[in-house]
Amino acid sequence: MENAGINTPGDFERAQQDKMIETNLARVGRKILVMSGKGGVGKSTVASYLALLLSMNGKKVGLLDVDLHGPTVARLMNVQGGFDMGEEGVVRPYRFSETLGIVSLEMILGEKDTAVIWRGPMKISAIRQFISDIEWGDLDYLVVDSPPGTGDEPLTVAQTIPDAEAIIVTTPQEISLADVRKSINFCREVNMKILGVVENMSGLLCPHCGENVPLFGSGGGVKMAAEMGVPILGQIPIDPEMVDSGDRGDLKGLIEKPDLKINDAYNRILEGII
Ligand SMILES: Nc1ncnc2c1ncn2[C@@H]1O[C@H](COP(=O)(O)OP(=O)(O)O)[C@@H](O)[C@H]1O
Ligand SMILES: [Mg+2]
Repeated sequence: MENAGINTPGDFERAQQDKMIETNLARVGRKILVMSGKGGVGKSTVASYLALLLSMNGKKVGLLDVDLHGPTVARLMNVQGGFDMGEEGVVRPYRFSETLGIVSLEMILGEKDTAVIWRGPMKISAIRQFISDIEWGDLDYLVVDSPPGTGDEPLTVAQTIPDAEAIIVTTPQEISLADVRKSINFCREVNMKILGVVENMSGLLCPHCGENVPLFGSGGGVKMAAEMGVPILGQIPIDPEMVDSGDRGDLKGLIEKPDLKINDAYNRILEGII
């Protein structure tokens, strides 16, 4: 089984690591955890797109993928190559641009289709090492993409980054909303501030007539957010161009098309965050 250089530390190493984590996080302004109840609702897309938008607005941004079993960020962002190796063994994130650095487990795995078969302690160590052993530098934002649910990964982020704020992504239908309520309760349980809910795949924009077809219903996220007393940051429609750009690893190309409806939604979300 591949361990990708991840070690589970003893007490002494752990205390040292705590110090490194504190030092590195002190250089980061806002920390945002993107989470959801279900998979496939667009977390990685939202995390990557927001990180891109922030970085293109002149902010210094780090994008950290802690979805260890299903890392997606490296593909969405077409990460070619690994870390930016500095002097004397300093490891920096992959340089996507002047203002955006990316870290994903996929950058360490030799083979892209390797299945990562790790239990809790390995996962916790990996996430802590992503923060302690990587020189992120001075950042305005660290955006963290997590796997669905309330397991080891979001819990480790909550415990390692005490001032992280959550964005919860959902689709409009009840089956997805039921699990989002759990995500909200998770945040309350671990005292993580909730920035708000994003309703993604909120209707299909018909490529022919431009009309919004409520494929998964609509407004469910807005209603649920109101019931649970959390802000709604925005509603992003389904746009086939998003799927295509994601598959090609060219989300950036979408931002450069200002007439796309999804960009209106994303800009509104960005305002809510900033
Ligand atoms: N607003 C959207 N419109 C169309 N496709 C989308 C949208 N948001 C996400 N997708 C697509 O849905 C799929 C799952 O998205 P992903 O971000 O990987 O979800 P998750 O991280 O929640 O599992 C991807 O193919 C992505 O391109
Ligand atoms: Mg994902």
